[in-house]
Amino acid sequence: MRMTLAITGASGAVYGLRLLMRLTQARVETHLIVSKAARVVLAEEEGLVLPDRPSDWQQVLRTRGIDVRFVHCWGEEDWHAPCASGSSAPRAMAVVPCSMGTLARIAQGISGNLIERAADVALKEGFPLVLVPRETPLSVIHLENMLRAARAGACVLPAAPGFYHRPERLEELVDFVVERILAQLGMQHAGKKIVWQGGEHERKVD
Ligand SMILES: Cc1cc2nc3c(=O)[nH]c(=O)nc-3n(C[C@H](O)[C@H](O)[C@H](O)COP(=O)(O)O)c2cc1C
Repeated sequence: MRMTLAITGASGAVYGLRLLMRLTQARVETHLIVSKAARVVLAEEEGLVLPDRPSDWQQVLRTRGIDVRFVHCWGEEDWHAPCASGSSAPRAMAVVPCSMGTLARIAQGISGNLIERAADVALKEGFPLVLVPRETPLSVIHLENMLRAARAGACVLPAAPGFYHRPERLEELVDFVVERILAQLGMQHAGKKIVWQGGEHERKVD
C-alpha cells in the first residue's frame, strides 16, 4: 500500500507526525511532503528541525522512532514525485494538519506546489483525500473553502477529538483524530481503533 502525506503549517504538527508513525508501523509506503511553514511549526511545537533538503529528513525522522524505510521525502517543488501525476500517484492522500492557506489553494485547484498538485491529482482521479484543517474561529472564507473541497470529493476531518472516551493523556486525544483519518483512508485495521461504545467509555483494540 502507498499513500501521500502532506504536513502543512497549521498548528497540530503532532497529528501529522503521529500519522506518519502509524503508517510506517503498518508498512505503508509513505510519500511525505512538508511545507516550509510546516517546518517552522514542527520546530516550534515539536522541537523537530527538518533540514532544507528533503533528502536529509530521514535521519531526523529516525530520531523520533519513525521507520524511515517506508518514507520517501519530497520538497514542495519536486515535480517529478510520483504524487504529481495521475499515472503514478499513490491512491490515497492526507493533509495533516491542513492550513487555511493550503485548504484555500486546494479548494481552488491552484496546484502551485507539490502538496496542492498532489491533492488536485487525488481529486481528479477520485482517490481518497483527507484534509485535517486546524483554525478557530472559522471565517466564511474558511467554511466556503471546506464546502468546496468536500463537494469536489475531499473528506474534511477537523482536528476535533471527542472526549467521550475520557482521555487521560495528550496522546489519546491525538490518536483519536489519527484513528479517524486512518479509517477514512480505509486503514482502520492498521492497529488500534477508538469506537463509540454508546456510553461505555471503552477503548476497543483490534
Ligand atoms: C506556530 C504557528 C502556528 C500556526 N497555526 C496555524 C493554524 O492553526 N492554522 C492556519 O491555517 N495557519 C496557521 N499558521 C499560519 C500558516 O503557517 C501560514 O498561513 C502559512 O502560510 C501556511 O503555509 P502552508 O499552507 O504552505 O503550509 C501558523 C503559523 C505558525 C508559525
